Order: sequence, then C-alpha cells, then structure tokens
Amino acid sequence: MDIRITTEELSQISAELAVVGIFEGDHPSAGREHIPAAYRGALADAQSRGEFEGKLLQSLSLLPGAETVAKRMLFIGLGPSQDFDVHGLRKVAGQLAQIADAMKVRSVGFLLPAAGYRDGDAVAAAAEGWVLGSWRFTGYHQKPPERQVPSFIMAGVNGAEAAQEGLKRGLIIGQAQNLTRELGFMPSNKLYPELLAAQAVQAGKAHGFEVEVLDEARLAELGMGALLGVGQGSVHPPRLVIMRYQGRSDKTLALVGKGITFDSGGISLKPPAGMEEMKYDMLGAGAVLGAMCAIADTKPAVNVTGVMAIAQNMPSGSSYKPGDVVQAFNGKTIEVTNTDAEGRVVLADGVSYAAHLRPDWIVETSTLTGAVLVVLGHEASGLVASNDSLAERVTDAANAAGERVWRLPIYPEYKALYKSAVADIKNSPGRDAGTITGGMIIGEFAGDVPFAHLDIAGTAWTKEGPLNAVSGPTGVMVRTFVELAHALA
Ligand code: BES
Ligand code: ZN
Ligand code: MN
Repeated sequence: MDIRITTEELSQISAELAVVGIFEGDHPSAGREHIPAAYRGALADAQSRGEFEGKLLQSLSLLPGAETVAKRMLFIGLGPSQDFDVHGLRKVAGQLAQIADAMKVRSVGFLLPAAGYRDGDAVAAAAEGWVLGSWRFTGYHQKPPERQVPSFIMAGVNGAEAAQEGLKRGLIIGQAQNLTRELGFMPSNKLYPELLAAQAVQAGKAHGFEVEVLDEARLAELGMGALLGVGQGSVHPPRLVIMRYQGRSDKTLALVGKGITFDSGGISLKPPAGMEEMKYDMLGAGAVLGAMCAIADTKPAVNVTGVMAIAQNMPSGSSYKPGDVVQAFNGKTIEVTNTDAEGRVVLADGVSYAAHLRPDWIVETSTLTGAVLVVLGHEASGLVASNDSLAERVTDAANAAGERVWRLPIYPEYKALYKSAVADIKNSPGRDAGTITGGMIIGEFAGDVPFAHLDIAGTAWTKEGPLNAVSGPTGVMVRTFVELAHALA
C-alpha cells in the first residue's frame, strides 16, 4: 500500500489521475486557483448544465488538458460544505479508490479538501478511506484475479508532524478493519474455532499484545459449560481467547466478542436459504481482534482485555439440545429452549470470565439477533446497557467513529420474559423485545461490572458502498472500540 502526503500543489505532482473535491453549491467561478486552468471551463460548463452538482460522492471525469502533469482529471462531490466532516472525507477517499480501480490508473493525486478539521484528522480519514475502499477479499479462486492498488498521494497537506501522525493512524485503523473484514469473509471450513484462535495468536505477535488460548480441556476445568455446550455438536471444539494490551493504567476496559464460526442453528436448525451467511457470525469476535491490533498500535493509556468466545454451532448426535441445562463459569444455569439462540450462551462464559478479571467496564458485541434488523435495519447497531454513563461513553465513541448506535431501553418487566422453571434463566424468551432480552441475558453474566452490549447483526455485513467495493463484512465496531479505548485513557 503506497500512500503518501506532500506539501506540493496538485498541479506539481505527477499522477495519472488528479482529483479535486467540489462542495455542492460552490459557484463555478469561485476560487478555483487550485484547479488546472485547462479544466476550469469544462467544470463550470458541467455545473451550469446541471451534470455535476457536487453532491456527496458524485463524480465527474474529464479528458486530458494541456497544462497539467496528470493525464486525467476527476472532480468528486463533497456535498454541502457545512455538512462535510472527516466521515464524509473517509467515504470520498473510499469511493475514489474504487473509481481509480475501475479506471485502471496506477497513481492518484488528491487535493485534500479544506474544512474545519485538524490537518492530522483529515489525512487520517482520507488514508483510512483509501485503505478500506481499495481492499478486496482475495478469495479462493484457482487463478486469483491480479490487482494492483494504485498509489495515493495527498497534495497540499500542511502541518507536517500532525499529518504524518494522521497518516500512520489512518493506516493502522484501516488495516485493523480490513483484518476483521477478511475474517468475516472466510468460510467456516477455513476458519473454525482453532483457526480463529490461531489468528489471534498471530495478530498478537505482529502487534505486540499477549494472547492466551483456552482449549476444551481447560474450559472444562474452569467450568465453562455454556461455551462447551454450544460447541459440543461440532468436530471443531470451542476456544476462549484472552488478549491483553497493557496501557500502564489502573483502569481496564474489557471487550468481549461472539465468535460463532458457523451458526447452523444446531438442533433448532435454520432454514437453508441464506444459511451460508452464518459464516460471519464471528464478527463480534472479529471486531474485538481488529480493535486489539489498532489499540496495541496506537497505545492508549488504558489497559484493554479482549475476549473471544469461539464455537461452531452444529447439529449432530453430540449436540446440545432444546431442554438441556448448562452451567456457565459464574455458576448461573441456563435452560436451552432454542439451540439457535447460541450467542448469548457462549457469551455467558465469555462475559463472566471477563467480569472475573475485574475490569472497570465490559463492552460486548455480537451478531446476536435478527430482531435488531427489524428495529434498525442495516443503519445502526443496537445498544443495550444498564449503566447510563457507560452507554453515553459508548455512544460518544461511536459518534466520533462515524458508526451509528441506538440505545434500546431496559425495563424491569422484560426480566420476566427469560425466567425459567428449571434454571436461573432460559436462553430463548421468544419474539417480544428480542434484541433487548438478548442483551439483558448477557448482562446477567457481567455481575456488578458496568456492561454494554452492541448487537451488530444488521451492521456487520453490508451491500456495496463507498467503503465496500463488494457486499461483505464492514469491520463495524473496530473504530468505535479504538475511539472508546482512547476516550477512557
Ligand atoms: N446469529 C444469529 C443472529 C443473526 C441473524 C445474525 C441475522 C446475523 C443476521 C443468532 O444466533 C440467532 O440465530 N438468533 C436468533 C435468536 C432467537 C432464536 C432468540 C434469531 O435472531 O432468530
Ligand atoms: Zn448466531
Ligand atoms: Mn443462532
């Protein structure tokens, strides 16, 4: 990945494609000194004809002009200037990476649009957008398609030190999300529990954080009957992975993720249509792993412990069954009324193990319920938290990251929905308030530690967009978790 910054003007750098952002409603004759003269007339014409208005992500490509070092010129819409921020810039850079790919150019020069943000933040957002927008899953084709990501040069960048730092930060956070996306694409025959745990070990070596893997024997010794129960139907046994970043602080944030490498539903089998998508039911764990990488690289002054509860939910002669009662690490018992509500069961052990390490906060994320899609669609993750101050901190971090979260209420009456006659709780209370009861059940295992649950079933996978060239995993919550760690430091 070749991404650079320069104080030079766009017209001074040699790139096959030169790109300038245009705000919506900008008058065609307004301050266009930065646009090579040869293109100014054509841009003004396109604007007056209404062909190019500068709407966010709209683009206009122009043929070679005489007085520029670039072979082609592209104008990209930034939307109204008063709405433009780093999140818009991230999307613009992502879109740009995709346009450059389609145009098959080898280098892109981009004049960083001026707006009310720090130089370092703009460089970070643009670099991150480029890293996300140019990324593709390699796949498993016999002949892998050949692709060369063009070099990306940001022109007219001031504030050398902040800009260099921003570039580094953008690359780190972009690549961390791409790791999460990579894992989400991987099918469960290539990423079963042992292999997801091995990915964490590898990442820990590369980024310098400590990784501990608990295998099925150790899980049994520790009394993690819930995680073992979900995993017992698969030939691939479950794992609990604990990752530790030391921020030399007396405060610790625990991040816990659901790592179901495949969710068939188990004995409560899912219908076949779309079942292949359930390879991404490990994206909560994937987000925790991606965030750990970026946290270890950006070094906030807070300790962060990442926990991944990993299992494969399969139907077989050895599977856990409806009616079974399992006991979690903290001693609480769970009646399994539906084996497809397995996320909360593995997280019962993941969260109670995290709580036993006595962190100051536990934030857990999971592709937990189809119900969150009914409430929020693909546009926001569902937040369920009993602790107002933690809920606020998570919301602030998500806003700063440009990832939407929406808090759902916890009313005491909901508790009755997951009461069981034979155990402390039942895992599948039914349709009513499904996302909320899911979060509340997991919260039962946090003890007295402030706890927040983020349901990413609707946001972890997306259709094509500015940052996603193809439909696939988004890496959602990586950015929020990194922001949160820095905010808590
Ligand atoms: N992994 C699914 C939830 C899911 C649905 C993720 C769609 C991504 C997209 C989860 O394990 C599940 O099956 N949930 C059940 C819970 C129910 C049985 C209480 C659901 O949502 O139907
Ligand atoms: Zn699931
Ligand atoms: Mn399920």
